Amino acid sequence: MEKILIIGACGQIGVELSLALRQAFGTSNVIASDIRPPHPLLGEGPFMNLNATDATALNEVIGREQISQVYLLAAVLSATGEQNPMRAWDINMKSLLQLLEICVHQKVKKLYWPSSIAVFGPTTPHSDTPQQTIVEPGTVYGISKYAGELWCQYFHQRYGLDVRSLRYPGLISWKGDPGGGTTDYAVEIYHDALKQGRYTCFLKENTYLPMMYMEDAIRATLELMEAPAEKLSTRMSYNLSALSFSPKEIADSIRKHIPGFEISYAPDFRQQIAEGWPQSIDDRLARHDWGWKPRFDLDAMTADMLQHLREKG
Ligand code: SER
Repeated sequence: MEKILIIGACGQIGVELSLALRQAFGTSNVIASDIRPPHPLLGEGPFMNLNATDATALNEVIGREQISQVYLLAAVLSATGEQNPMRAWDINMKSLLQLLEICVHQKVKKLYWPSSIAVFGPTTPHSDTPQQTIVEPGTVYGISKYAGELWCQYFHQRYGLDVRSLRYPGLISWKGDPGGGTTDYAVEIYHDALKQGRYTCFLKENTYLPMMYMEDAIRATLELMEAPAEKLSTRMSYNLSALSFSPKEIADSIRKHIPGFEISYAPDFRQQIAEGWPQSIDDRLARHDWGWKPRFDLDAMTADMLQHLREKG
């Protein structure tokens, strides 16, 4: 039987991944943890206050609860990271490196750690970015993710740790709130469209970025974690693709439901981050190795987002 620990369970991915894992493995077998108080959607299931950088506490919990799978989701994202680069590096790297060691010593069966399109940088080919290509990230977040990927691969090769990872594109969701990313505009825009009928975007209208609806991202994560180990041909992180759109195109999609919706543009420092990232991703390796296939296109996502946000009120 699996016993799962999620670190950073109250974040944008954490809330939905916790719910999905509880559905798959049983609520009592999935311990959600975060430095913050429990998210209301996590309900009555097991929850613990944990700091992702507190190795002593993590080691103790993983041993005591006989944890077999760990999901480390706590991180400082791209835009927040640029405000205090050393803090972002410290939190992102310390949490991962300590946990890699703990997982080896405690014989944890599987570790999941997310990477990001932010590993790529201005010198990377921007269109259909390959799995292996020029990687010179321009943000501290991207540097920490790429270094982390290399450490995951190292722990797999050196100690046999079954660590798995995905390079998520920008994630769009209505349950948990996004936390300080450059792609967050694609979530804010739906909230503001419903509340105010207008949105001021911090990226320029023709800035294309790879994106994905959260339902697809959660399914990808579960599918990767369930895939037979021998199918996985990389222990770096898998490129993962679903959508590629610009602020103008998401606004057009929203207008099909809210005809009077208006968008204006006031690009800030996040424009430069976005311009350093790919516009679209080649994820053939994920499709080949473990059968990845996205389900949501832009209009299907818009319809689902607006319906759920309306119901939520
Ligand atoms: N969504 C993230 C960010 O914008 C990318 O991984 O920082």
